[in-house]
Order: sequence, then structure tokens, then C-alpha cells
Amino acid sequence: MGVDEVQRIALYGGNRLRGRVRISGSKNAALAILPAVLLASKKVSLNNVPDITDVRTMLRIIEDLGATIRRRGRNSLDFYPSRLRGYAPPYDLVQKIRASSYLMGSLLARFGRATVPVPGGCDLGPRPIDQHLKGFTALGVDCLIEHGLIKLTADKLSGAHIYFDVVSVGATVNLMLAAAAAEGRTVLENVAKEPEIVDLANFLNAIGAVVKGAGTDVIKIDGVEEFGGAEHTIIPDRIEAGTFMLAAAATGGDLLMGEVIPKHLEAVTAKLREMDVKVEVGPDQIRVFRSGPLAPSDLKTFPYPGFPTDLQPLGMVLLTAAEGTSVVTENVFDGRFRHVDELEKMGARIKVEGRTAVIDGGVPLSGAPVSATDLRAGAALLVAGMIAEGETVLSEAEHIYRGYENIEEKLKSLGAQIRCHRAGRSSGAADDQG
Ligand code: UD1
Repeated sequence: MGVDEVQRIALYGGNRLRGRVRISGSKNAALAILPAVLLASKKVSLNNVPDITDVRTMLRIIEDLGATIRRRGRNSLDFYPSRLRGYAPPYDLVQKIRASSYLMGSLLARFGRATVPVPGGCDLGPRPIDQHLKGFTALGVDCLIEHGLIKLTADKLSGAHIYFDVVSVGATVNLMLAAAAAEGRTVLENVAKEPEIVDLANFLNAIGAVVKGAGTDVIKIDGVEEFGGAEHTIIPDRIEAGTFMLAAAATGGDLLMGEVIPKHLEAVTAKLREMDVKVEVGPDQIRVFRSGPLAPSDLKTFPYPGFPTDLQPLGMVLLTAAEGTSVVTENVFDGRFRHVDELEKMGARIKVEGRTAVIDGGVPLSGAPVSATDLRAGAALLVAGMIAEGETVLSEAEHIYRGYENIEEKLKSLGAQIRCHRAGRSSGAADDQG
């Protein structure tokens, strides 16, 4: 069934999630590595690529730019990027995904120029790209924004010393991509330390780049003139894993998440334990279970290794189930509280003041018609529906498929009562193999 077609999800609350769930490859790592494929001159094989709509969109963009893509399986793809035909990806695809901004970095590395529409993606409030442009300018790029297009040109990319004013995943990725092909050394300071940055660095090094320090505050890149090919396996999705961890805790269930890197989930593990949820950590799996009541807690989002902003809406759902007062502080994005209105429709008592939300927990949620305002808000409302009494109907559910592979099948196999409503089109034929 084509994942793009799901529009509404209906669910009945009350079931505890139980069983084992296989975590898919990381969305955000895949969305950084796929543009990096454009730097390669030889065949690239990627494994554990999540089959989600954001990735399908990125694959279509890469194909449109002239790369040949062959699918070896649902999650394994081969790329032949030696002959590209352009540096201007199509507007209709680019505006669908935030991560299309990474095409700026990769096309600059490949062609010394890029014309990319100002990117779209999740509406989490203002999402400036000043740090990306400041970095490109330091590498010698001429940056011009006109008619909704970002036009970048450089006679030559030259290594530079760049200090980011804010810790930004996107700016770090973009500058790693461009600097990989710049002449001389680039030093990036105050960079993002997310595991997806480390995965990108590993991929870049595999195709011949020289990137050191990923995972720390400073990344040093010695530019090279030509890149080869490589085979690379994308890391497990810590945000998907965290979603299931929080869902297990919220439903009072018992879930074993397989193929994870527990180190990437330490902030979530610590928060759950604080709330009296049991968490058992193995070498590559995590078990989360709960039978007693939840303790209220305060939750603050921060760049990695802090509690991820992408799990904040889900954390908030969990806190509605804890008797007492909890405080959520969103430090990464302004305006990432759009799920609050929807949770209030389900009976949650939440007061928002600026970047802070105060939750008066312990009031059972009741099923209601709600809307997935963005990807992670959608996931949070799914979990809210699973603990609410009665039926919840989630509209704009297509957002969820941007970041969760097989979500319907996974949740059903764990005991959730969930039904997805699709548009009238037939299955299969509409599937975009990208
Ligand atoms: C990425 C992730 C997203 C995650 C976010 C934070 C992808 C595809 N998306 O988004 O899932 O929620 O990191 O972990 O990987 N900022 C500026 N100027 C800039 C760039 C960013 O002020 O030039 C600010 C943003 O407004 C925001 C903060 O920096 O307040 C962090 O944003 P950033 O890390 O760049 O997020 P994204 O890369 O867009």
C-alpha cells in the first residue's frame, strides 16, 4: 500500500503495547547521507534506508538531478551518481522536505554552485538558515536569495574557520558537505553533536573525505578533489526508538526495541527511570515496561546529548498520565507546542507560557477528532489516542508517514487498535520507488 495515501488514522485506546519491535534506519541520518551521495564518483550502496515519504522525496530529487538508483530490497539501494545533469533541484519536491536544504552543501561541493528553493518541512515556527549562509560565505560562496530561490555560486571553495552562533544540525551538515570539497582545511566550531552527524562523517570518510571530530564540538575537514564510492549502513533511528519507549511507558506496556544504539537514547532512558518506568538496556536493545503509577517530572529539550526536541510532544503525552504537576521547557525551537491545542481537545490540562508548558497530569484523556500538525506532534497524538478512552480520529496523518516506517503494521503487531483510512487510489501502482 502506498504510504503517501494515508490521510486519517482511527484508534481506540486502552490496550497496553506488548512485544518486540524492529527499529528502522534513521530518518535524519538518511536525509543527510542521501545528498552526500551526490559527491561520489563511483557506485554507492546504502543499507538500512528507511522507507518513509521524506526519504522517497529525497530519492526523487536525487534521481531528477541525474543519479541512477537501483533498489536491492526495500531498505537497500545502489546509487550511480557519476553523471549528474544539473544543480537546480525541482521546486515541487524541494519544498516538501526541510532536509532538501542539504542539497546546497552537496551541490556546492560537486559543482561550485546550487540553486535551491527556500526549504519547507515541519512547521515548528521560524526556521532560519542564517548559519548555513554565514558558513558558505566564509568558504567563498556568493549567496543570493531572490524569488524564493537561494542562489549560491563560488569560483572556488576555500577552507575557513567558522564559529556557529547557534548549535544547528542543518548548518553543521551543510558545512560538512561543502567543506569536504573545499581547498585546504575547514574548522567548524560549536557544531551539533547528534549521532546523525557522526553517521554522515563516517559516510563521507568512506567515500574519501577527511573529516575528524564529528560527535564533539569541533569538526576539522581537509578538503579533497575527488571522491570514490562506498557501502554504508545507516544507524538505527533513535527518535523512532524513543517514540516506542515513550509509548510503552504511556500505555503501561512492555516493549523490546531491537537494533538500537542504547547510548543514543540515554536522555530518554534517564527521564523514564525518573518517572518510575522500568528500563533494561542491553548491547543493542532496550526493554521498557511499567505496571505502577507514573511520577511527574520536568522535561527540558536540548541539542544532543540532551533530551531531543523531536520527542518533546511524546514526552508531554506521557506527563499527562502522571498524577501531579510537570513542566516542559522547549529550548530548541520557538513555537513547538502546536500539539497542545490538540491534546487539550482530548481533555489534557496544559498551560503554555512562552517556551514553557505546565501540565496538570493524572486526568484521563478521552478520544476526540484531532489533527497531526507536524510529524512528531502526529506521533504524540497517536500515543495519546492509545491511552485515551474511546475513539480518536487523527487527520493530516500523512505527516506521520514522513518519518515512521510501517507504523500501522508495527503498532498493530504490538496490540494497538488502529485503522488507517486511505484515499481512493489503488495500492502498489502509486508507490514511488524513487
Ligand atoms: C534537525 C532535524 C530535526 C530536529 C532538529 C533539532 C533533520 C532533517 N531535522 O532540524 O528533526 O528537530 O535538527 O534537533 O535532521 N537555527 C538558526 N539559524 C540557522 C539554523 C538553525 O537560528 O541557520 C536555529 C533554529 O531556528 C532552531 C535551532 O537553531 O531554533 C536548531 O535548529 P537545527 O538544529 O538547525 O534544526 P534542523 O537542522 O532544521
